Order: sequence, then C-alpha cells, then structure tokens
Amino acid sequence: MELSVGQVAKRAEVTVSALHFYEQKGMIASWRNQGNQRRYDSSVLRRIAVIKTGQQLGLSLEEIKQALASLPIDRAPSQEEWEAMGKKWKSILDDKIWLMTKLRDELGECIGCGCLSLNRCRLRNPDDELGALGNGATLWKKND
Ligand code: FES
Repeated sequence: MELSVGQVAKRAEVTVSALHFYEQKGMIASWRNQGNQRRYDSSVLRRIAVIKTGQQLGLSLEEIKQALASLPIDRAPSQEEWEAMGKKWKSILDDKIWLMTKLRDELGECIGCGCLSLNRCRLRNPDDELGALGNGATLWKKND
C-alpha cells in the first residue's frame, strides 16, 4: 500500500518537514509517481516508529540510523531482524545507563562547586583516561 506524504505525516504524527529530514538523512525512502508526487510504502510507518522510539530513548541520530540500516527499507522487518536490532539497542542503553549512573554517583563532588574543570571534574570529563597519567599534554610528553 502506498501513501502520500500527507498521509504518512498524519498517521505517524510527524510534520512533513520531519519526513523530508528523515529522507534526506537516508532513514526513510520514497519514490515519485507519474504526477511527480512523493509516495511511501506503508512500511515507512514502522521505520518512523523506530525513529521516534529511538529519540524517546535518548539515542543519537547516528545510533538510530545504524539501527535502521540493519532493517529492510522496502518491507516490514522479520522477527529475527527486530531481535537483532533490539539487542544492539539494549547494549547501547546498557552503556548509557552505566555512564549516567556513574555520573549521578559522582555528582556529589560537583554540587556547590561549579568549576566544570577538565582537569578535575568527573561530570565535565568523565572518561579522562589520560588524566590518570598526569596533568597537561601527557600523550605528547609521553611520545616525545
Ligand atoms: S563542578 Fe567542580 S568538580 Fe565538578
């Protein structure tokens, strides 16, 4: 079943400009009919649902794009394809939850401080692995 841009926008509850943006980014696809009007396969509704869900989960546009790249663009995904995408998202979310929990637990040091120093603030620079080697350009010094 093919849908017009207006029908997709209404059924997916997104703006037409959002559809154009998703298409420009290669996240959804359409074709032109003989009247040069944009048409979408109804499976685009599921892809948009994936985009909106990914956004609600706090995933980046790139993470959502990678998930969509693993799904067929012209038909509904199989159960196996859904499960594979779900596993990738679970892994991404596990990493984000770990990082957010770590930042939350270390926030106490920052309350009332406000320095946001790259050298000592774990909130501003949570993965400062080089910081463990010392202050300044440690990598440059190390390789000199
Ligand atoms: S704001 Fe000062 S240590 Fe984080």
